[in-house]
Amino acid sequence: MSTTTPYVLILFYSRQGATRAMAEAMAAGVESESGIAARLRTVPPVSATCEAVDPDIPAEGAVYASLDDLRHCTGLAIGSPTRFGNMAAPLKYFLDGSSELWMNGALIDKPASAFTSTASLHGGQETTLMTMLVPLLHHGMVLSGLPYSETELFTTTTGGTPYGASHLAGQRSNRSLDEQERSLCMAQGKRLARLALALAPMREST
Ligand SMILES: Cc1cc2nc3c(=O)[nH]c(=O)nc-3n(C[C@H](O)[C@H](O)[C@H](O)COP(=O)(O)O)c2cc1C
Repeated sequence: MSTTTPYVLILFYSRQGATRAMAEAMAAGVESESGIAARLRTVPPVSATCEAVDPDIPAEGAVYASLDDLRHCTGLAIGSPTRFGNMAAPLKYFLDGSSELWMNGALIDKPASAFTSTASLHGGQETTLMTMLVPLLHHGMVLSGLPYSETELFTTTTGGTPYGASHLAGQRSNRSLDEQERSLCMAQGKRLARLALALAPMREST
């Protein structure tokens, strides 16, 4: 892929790996569409001591996101573990630092969606997904979820919602993505890629 290839930024935080597995399935969905790439980026934990103790690059996994990753994306998927029915602080902290992009309207008319992982089935997947989308509305993004043409939404007994992909990781966080959860992550990534490619010419003509 060249440096000018449009990309969907998959911006996530994961401590135990469940949200990371979802992000990777989402990326596979994005890359099943030609002409667009997936860019996986994470955010550092918020340190109660001092931010300076964090290394510049994580020891493993995706690279840390920069504001430029967000500024230049063609579409955005944000993923977080559910924390008390809401997104995790590190991701919120990153978004709270995006005022400059808001002031410049850098994300207006770009498509966005959210995904989350929880320990328990009714532990707040929907509230997390809906509240993760709120700051993106402030940025003027075009929100997308999962339509019921994805038939796994009717049959799943674990994760998967019309508000975005979700995963039931279990109390010990040791439950892997099942086939339906993985398929819905991929469908969401693919849909986001298609929306990103469709909306890009509209933005360029205004
Ligand atoms: C501080 C904290 C709060 C949490 N709150 C919830 C919650 O409200 N509902 C839930 O089902 N799981 C909750 N969990 C569990 C995580 O959402 C779950 O383990 C998730 O799958 C972790 O994702 P990760 O592997 O990407 O870090 C919480 C975990 C922590 C550490």
